Parts: sequence; structure tokens; C-alpha cells
Amino acid sequence: MIARGIMLGPDQPVILHMLDIEPAAEALNGVKMELIDAAFPLLKGVVATTDVVEACKDVNIAVMVGGFPRKEGMERKDVMSKNVSIYKAQASALEKHAAPNCKVLVVANPANTNALILKEFAPSIPAKNITCLTRLDHNRAMGQISERLKVHVSDVKNVIIWGNHSSTQYPDVNHATVTTSKGEKPVREAVADDNWLNTEFITTVQQRGAAIIKARKLSSALSAASSACDHIRDWVLGTPKGTWVSMGVYSDGSYGIPEGLIYSFPVTCEKGEWSIVKGLKVDEFSRAKMDATAEELAEEKTLAYSCLN
Ligand code: LMR
Repeated sequence: MIARGIMLGPDQPVILHMLDIEPAAEALNGVKMELIDAAFPLLKGVVATTDVVEACKDVNIAVMVGGFPRKEGMERKDVMSKNVSIYKAQASALEKHAAPNCKVLVVANPANTNALILKEFAPSIPAKNITCLTRLDHNRAMGQISERLKVHVSDVKNVIIWGNHSSTQYPDVNHATVTTSKGEKPVREAVADDNWLNTEFITTVQQRGAAIIKARKLSSALSAASSACDHIRDWVLGTPKGTWVSMGVYSDGSYGIPEGLIYSFPVTCEKGEWSIVKGLKVDEFSRAKMDATAEELAEEKTLAYSCLN
């Protein structure tokens, strides 16, 4: 997708740097061979390496997909402890070797907390350049609304994912609209079933990652990759007028969310910078859900720090 221009547009040549661990070196080289064989006009080079320094050298955009997956019998703390060390090491490599204004997108779970650790250990990378992926959840929420209303997904806009990329995230449709033959309508009005929107819709989006794993016996791949491209494309090239997207970003205290957490907010992007959409009305139902996911992030942060000590 990146080599085809889906991430940075059809006119932007790219050099791909791919990092994997030593046991995967041969498979990684196979991927490099395939990239060469595909003869992508935009692909100006491929670096396939197991050396983190070589991988990070002068990169402008870093998509962090590597993490230790939870395996049977592992406690949450064990996974956190492995990932915190991975992100600490990669943060130092990015800090030392990436281009000064490198934009970072963390995809690997626990994505928000991995991004926070990366931020802490790469202090010279501006906090606004470190984000995590909740666009996948945002796209899933649009997909559910489009299925329910039998409209095309591109007619649904301005859903919001608040908080953690986990089952406590809050998919919010209170400001979302849908374009119908009679013009633009609030999603709540078009769906006309608050009970569904406040229960099943929310849990379906929250549990979608788990549902994919159950069905495929593997984590989401295509939708995650496509959403990562959406995230970077909108960040770099801008969000369309009148629409926002969801991104996990360093909280500035907006909407009463404590600073010091990487939390998913509605954002618009222009000239390579995101800004949190301000002034949206938050009702009591939403407040409780937004706070619950913030609390989970605060707990993850404490756990991550305890792993570091
Ligand atoms: C997803 O949302 O699809 C993934 O984050 C699920 C997972 O745990 O890998």
C-alpha cells in the first residue's frame, strides 16, 4: 500500500525501511524480493534489516508494528513488560537516528501505552509527533453505521473514538452525520434506535479486534494496514474540510482528559499538524465512558512504569 502511494499520495516517491527480529531475517528478505519484483514506480529503495539503527536512519515516518503478542498463560504484566522494553529501545534508536521531524505511529498493542513509553524515551522527538492508531476503530465504527443504515461508508462521517485502543474505548456517534438522498442527517436520527447505539453498536466496535482474531485465528491485518495508511495520509496531507478523524495523541487536558496520557481524540489535520476538535458537547453518558477509558490508560501507565523500575 505504501509503495502504491496509498499512504503518502500518488506523487510521493518512498524508500521503505523494514525492521524485523533476527529469526525472521530470511522471510524479511523474501518480502524485499517481492517488493523489487512488483516494480512499483514510486518505490525508490528498500532497506530490509534486523539492525534497529539502520532501520531508523533518517526515516521521516515510523510505523511501529512490532510488539510481543500475548500468548497462552501470559499475564498482562508479562506482555506489558516485554513491550515496554521493546519500545524503550526503539525510542532511543528513533531519537538518535530518525530525521528530526519524524512522525511516529504506534500500531502494536498496547498501542497507547507503547506510544507513551516511546515518547518518554525519545524526549527530543516533539510529543505532537508521537501518535497511536485508533483510526482502525474509527473506521470500524463507520462500517457498523453504514451496515446498519445500508448506506455507503463514505456517506458516514465524524464518528469519534475516545480513549484507549482496547475494549474500554468509547465509540461516540453523538456528532456523526450521514448523507442521505434528503441531505445530511445526524446518525442518531437516521438510526432511530438509541438503545442499539448505546449498547450493541459500542460493544461491537470495542470487541471487533477480538472477533477478528476468533474468526481468522489471527489479528486484523488488511484493515489495520489500511487504517494505518489512512492515519498517516490524513496527518500528512490533511483531513477533508468539515470532517475529523480519530487519532491517539498526547493529551493536552482537552475534555478533562488528564495530561500525560496518549488518548484518542477527534482531530483535524492541516499542513502536517493535528489539532484536537474543541468545544463538542459531552453528555453524562459519554462523560462516564470517556473517563472510564482514561482510567484504564492511567492504570496501564502505572503498570508500564512499574515494569521499567
Ligand atoms: C485489533 O484491534 O484488531 C487488534 O488490536 C487486536 C489485537 O489484539 O491484536
